[in-house]
Amino acid sequence: MQIVVKDLNYTYSARTPFERHALKGVNLTINEGDFLGIIGHTGSGKSTFIMHLNGLFKLQSGEIDVFDIKLVPDKKKKSDLRRLRGTVGMVFQYPEYQLFEDTVEKDVAFGPKNMGLDADEVSKRVKRAIELVGLDYEDIKDRAPFELSGGQKRRVAIAGIIAMQPKVLILDEPTAGLDPYGKEQILSLITHLKKECSPTVIVISHDVDEITRFANRIIVFNNGKVMFDLPMNELFRHADELHAVGLEIPKAVRIAQKLRERGVQLEGDIVSLNDLLHAIVVAYNKKHIDETVDENLNFSAFEFDLNDSSTCKKGEGKA
Ligand SMILES: Nc1ncnc2c1ncn2[C@@H]1O[C@H](COP(=O)(O)OP(=O)(O)OP(=O)(O)O)[C@@H](O)[C@H]1O
Ligand SMILES: [Mg+2]
Repeated sequence: MQIVVKDLNYTYSARTPFERHALKGVNLTINEGDFLGIIGHTGSGKSTFIMHLNGLFKLQSGEIDVFDIKLVPDKKKKSDLRRLRGTVGMVFQYPEYQLFEDTVEKDVAFGPKNMGLDADEVSKRVKRAIELVGLDYEDIKDRAPFELSGGQKRRVAIAGIIAMQPKVLILDEPTAGLDPYGKEQILSLITHLKKECSPTVIVISHDVDEITRFANRIIVFNNGKVMFDLPMNELFRHADELHAVGLEIPKAVRIAQKLRERGVQLEGDIVSLNDLLHAIVVAYNKKHIDETVDENLNFSAFEFDLNDSSTCKKGEGKA
């Protein structure tokens, strides 16, 4: 199953003095199971693009197939929007602003109810969604959304989308406005939801360090066009081009570059802080304890948990 986008163009306020070509000939294929990051300068077309994927924007030209649902610009044919919204769940920036019911339970139930599911199924989904986002169902279900903390509200808003059990989950700047701890929690939640609920996840973010934590592929938008569509380890080899369009390079890539310039032999593609830590451990051992190091030591079996101050955990592999 795939999402296939062909020659997608979109113009805001066409034929007015405010005309703006937001998307210009976008062609993309997103595969089931992708963990896709979308980056790009402000105004590059990221949000306009994703809003096409669940039918919020009507196609002006081009074609989109979302799994087996066809979206068409032809006014005479109707796209199957109801089925589409059950397939693609969209979490907007600051989704908590859209909470409007007087209890958490009612708010989370809104989407599944609109899908026409029976009351039993709606209740089951609401409970599961609230638990999936890490909240205590019994404790929170009757509370008013406005009395929750910022992070809790955001979780409730995400639960409202998850309750529709979308195959594709799209999040636009999901950590915007949260403190470092809140960000961390939402990032772990997204990874958890990919495993447990929506196998295909698309995240827009301005923070490349954040993206390197999870994405296996990154799309870069620039002026309404796809500038790069690459696996993460290949993308940051184009540091100069990214820099030229105002995009940051992940910290780990920059540090690795500086260390290599100073003669430290770091092996492999380094994109995330975890990659960097692995490479430094390997380089250190090669330089200092080569003779004593156990040949069978498998460094890929070490996993660094950056939230844990004790930092280095031994994994499952042989060591
Ligand atoms: N409602 C609108 N009316 C007119 N122009 C718009 C509207 N929404 C967006 N645009 C324009 O379309 C272009 C693409 O906007 P879009 O919101 O998709 O960018 P973005 O990449 O999501 O930016 P950001 O990172 O700031 O969220 C921009 O030039 C923007 O000014
Ligand atoms: Mg946007």
